[in-house]
Amino acid sequence: MLRLEDLNVRRGGTHALRGIGLEVKAGEIVALIGANGAGKTTTLATISGLLRPQGGRILFTPEVDGEPLDLSRMKADAIVAAGISHCPEGRQVFANLTVTENLRIGAYLRRDKAAIDKDVKDIQAMFPILKERGSVPGDRLSGGEQMMLVIGRALMSRPKLLLLDEPSLGLAPQLVEQIFEILERIRSEGVTVLLVEQNAAMALELADRAYVLEAGSLVLSGTGRDLAQDAEVRRAYLGAA
Ligand SMILES: Nc1ncnc2c1ncn2[C@@H]1O[C@H](COP(=O)(O)OP(=O)(O)O)[C@@H](O)[C@H]1O
Ligand SMILES: [Mg+2]
Repeated sequence: MLRLEDLNVRRGGTHALRGIGLEVKAGEIVALIGANGAGKTTTLATISGLLRPQGGRILFTPEVDGEPLDLSRMKADAIVAAGISHCPEGRQVFANLTVTENLRIGAYLRRDKAAIDKDVKDIQAMFPILKERGSVPGDRLSGGEQMMLVIGRALMSRPKLLLLDEPSLGLAPQLVEQIFEILERIRSEGVTVLLVEQNAAMALELADRAYVLEAGSLVLSGTGRDLAQDAEVRRAYLGAA
């Protein structure tokens, strides 16, 4: 569904991505783990068209057996319309809009009003708190509730591929569990997931496959289970002695 080929991205004076290649297949949950500054956010921002690569290709094939699109030549809006939705780092909710208005913003490219109303209801059923607190300003929600709101908002564009940037950041372990269960459910409803995390333990437990990013280069990849048992991963990312 998504294939990065020899992707190079510079940010200011930093060579943030140094020729990375990775693949996400339809129906998978793939995790990209790595320390602060490794290039995880840069990777997602480049896929969703917020940053331009200096070299390489980003091939997205929304339909099985369809023609791939090269996202590195497309604008961010067109990338959303093609089926990619990005939950950015830091839970960016609109503080002066209500929770329900925040949700509806996710459908800004759609014109199918009846289907939008139905999707709002479905998302409120998935996250009951978003219905209960539908008329309060977005910034009155707790951190975990805001995370649910940004995931719900991202689903409002009916993505085929969901990009998530550190959904566990700053959340209590129990909430992280809850968010990761939701990601399982989203996948079971047919949405493919590319998840970026510093919380390697949780991410490797959830992911079918994972890649390890170090200083802009991919250094390891494998199934979530294999990487969780890899001695180097355990030492560097799982806090094992
Ligand atoms: N806005 C920016 N301008 C210049 N350099 C940046 C910017 N944001 C990040 N970088 C640099 O790009 C590299 C990758 O950062 P980032 O993708 O944010 O890493 P991660 O998400 O893994 O923590 C780092 O060296 C970081 O300092
Ligand atoms: Mg980041």
